[in-house]
Amino acid sequence: MLTKKEQLYEGKAKKVFSTEDPEKYIVSYKDDATAFNGLKKGTILGKGAINNRVSNFLMRMLETKGIPTHYVEELNPRETVVRKVSIVPLEVIVRNIAAGSLSKRLGLPEGVKMKKTVLEYCYKNDELGDPMVNEYHILAMEFCTKEELDLIAEYSLKINEILSAYLKQCNIELIDFKLEFGKTSDGQIILADEISPETCRFWDSNTNEKLDKDRFRRDLGGVEDAYKEILRRLLGE
Ligand code: TMP
Repeated sequence: MLTKKEQLYEGKAKKVFSTEDPEKYIVSYKDDATAFNGLKKGTILGKGAINNRVSNFLMRMLETKGIPTHYVEELNPRETVVRKVSIVPLEVIVRNIAAGSLSKRLGLPEGVKMKKTVLEYCYKNDELGDPMVNEYHILAMEFCTKEELDLIAEYSLKINEILSAYLKQCNIELIDFKLEFGKTSDGQIILADEISPETCRFWDSNTNEKLDKDRFRRDLGGVEDAYKEILRRLLGE
């Protein structure tokens, strides 16, 4: 079994460690929570373990449907072995229903169904506040190639279809979510980072109750319970 060697990176929600295998990392999920590019800080008890387990569960499912991911092996509730990638510096946002920054930008009330799935790209750069970019910026800045971007878009839309259908069976509406992709040392584009209540908007299909990080961002209370509810509905615990 691989073990953690050197800490390579500490982000807002996870730490990344090297291992005995140069092609594998271990990620360790924290309970620390931030929002608005780190301006709001807090702790969500048990969130690290829930995000790790939910993300691994969803990535394993996506793998069975033909989406390559960085997932290798869950070591314990908080830690997972993943494939080493260099991250494409993009946050890919997929939107089915208007909410959050899209509602603000376009003046659409939250909850309005989009007539077509919306794909957005943001440049992953905390100092700049993750600005939205389009395909021209991405290619001009050489964040990835045109072929890689086309593949990222294709995977993102397919992931949306798979996850939306699956979550509906759990009485969860997938409003929007954020993905990150990475490149392996042999040049393959694979899904990386996490898919969890941290990076998705999940609403109860019947009541529209928010079951995700918006409860923390907007001080709605019941944050831990919402994360636990997602774990229960997805993994039956
Ligand atoms: P937004 O409406 O605030 O742009 O968020 C869109 C989706 O992306 C939402 O599901 C939350 C997720 N997201 C992240 O995962 N990380 C971020 O830093 C931001 C701003 C949003």
